[in-house]
Amino acid sequence: MIISACMLGVILGFTFSKTPPKVTKVSLGKMLFFDPILSEDSTISCSSCHKPEFAFADTSAFSKGVHGRLGTRNAPSAMNMSSREAFFWDGRAATLEQQALGPIENPVEMNLPIETALKRLNRNKRYRSLFFTVFKTYPNKQNLTAAIAAFERTLETSATPNDRWLNDEPGGLTDQQVRGRDIFRVKGKCFECHFTPDFTADEFRNIGLFNGKNHNDSGRYLITHNPADIGKMKVPGLRNVAITAPYMHDGSFKTLRQVIDYYDNPHATMPDGINRDSILSQPLHLTEQDKQDLEAFLNSLTDDRFVKK
Ligand code: HEC
Ligand code: HEC
Repeated sequence: MIISACMLGVILGFTFSKTPPKVTKVSLGKMLFFDPILSEDSTISCSSCHKPEFAFADTSAFSKGVHGRLGTRNAPSAMNMSSREAFFWDGRAATLEQQALGPIENPVEMNLPIETALKRLNRNKRYRSLFFTVFKTYPNKQNLTAAIAAFERTLETSATPNDRWLNDEPGGLTDQQVRGRDIFRVKGKCFECHFTPDFTADEFRNIGLFNGKNHNDSGRYLITHNPADIGKMKVPGLRNVAITAPYMHDGSFKTLRQVIDYYDNPHATMPDGINRDSILSQPLHLTEQDKQDLEAFLNSLTDDRFVKK
């Protein structure tokens, strides 16, 4: 009997008629995001700190880089980045492509000079061929960061009760969440800084967590050297915030309730906060019910894929 290629495929458990999945900029970027090849000792990938199951954020205040080194800032979610105009807490990168170079070279993160990273990828037959298929050039700084950024731009979330409520679709906000939304917009003044569909316009604001002593990350000031920027951080988006604890640039709040208690009366927690935004100069006087409602609203920003059934 003559065994055709097709029959052989059936015997071996695959079919020749199926073409292998086509590599794209996005699928290549995804592979790189999860591959420790971009770190000095090949132990750390982007996903070590931006964990997919926690909306691509980290659960520790400070993430571990190569050799167990700790940074000084909390890893934010790498989701919902496509509308951002500035990256990092201090906004020092202007594009996602530029951002991606930061962690690869950062001594406390992946600690790999970009030239070494490119040499490694070019020595790796598989990557060399995949890059060529996608870009018609071998791995270089531009196509490496273009691939990673393209993958990150696919990490958008919009299947949430709040989005459905806004679109008048079933499965929207509960009555309590609607009350919480009102607190968010009016009494809590949250909307003054957390607006737009992602709850940030990438502005730099100071909520009072800098005192120049034990809280001494001066944030935006490190980039601009403008004294008015001391203690300002990029306003973080709030999509999926219920699963991205701990919170703030230093991961100093463990729960959303702690965040809400802070905003209710910032002075009580940080009496020596320098340069605090004037919006936060008076206590909010939220009732216990207000706080619970506000937290319920923040819980409505979680994408369905992260909701445990
Ligand atoms: C060792 C942990 C660690 C690794 C590895 C890491 N990151 Fe990060 N990431 C962070 C921290 C911490 C920040 C915030 C740093 C800052 O603001 O100075 C951050 C910030 C970001 C941001 C900015 C988010 C925003 O809201 O501005 C993006 C996007 C991002 N990382 C993507 C990546 C990519 C892509 C890689 C892999 C090439 C990577 N990260 C590797 C910890 C890490
Ligand atoms: C004056 C502008 C401003 C106002 C008003 C404001 N925020 Fe923020 N918010 C920020 C900034 C800036 C940060 C980051 C601060 C830092 O890390 O030092 C932040 C951080 C947060 C975080 C942590 C997110 C994360 O990923 O770590 C949450 C949650 C939050 N705000 C919710 C709220 C709520 C709820 C309100 C209303 C009660 C509110 N914010 C009011 C500017 C503001």
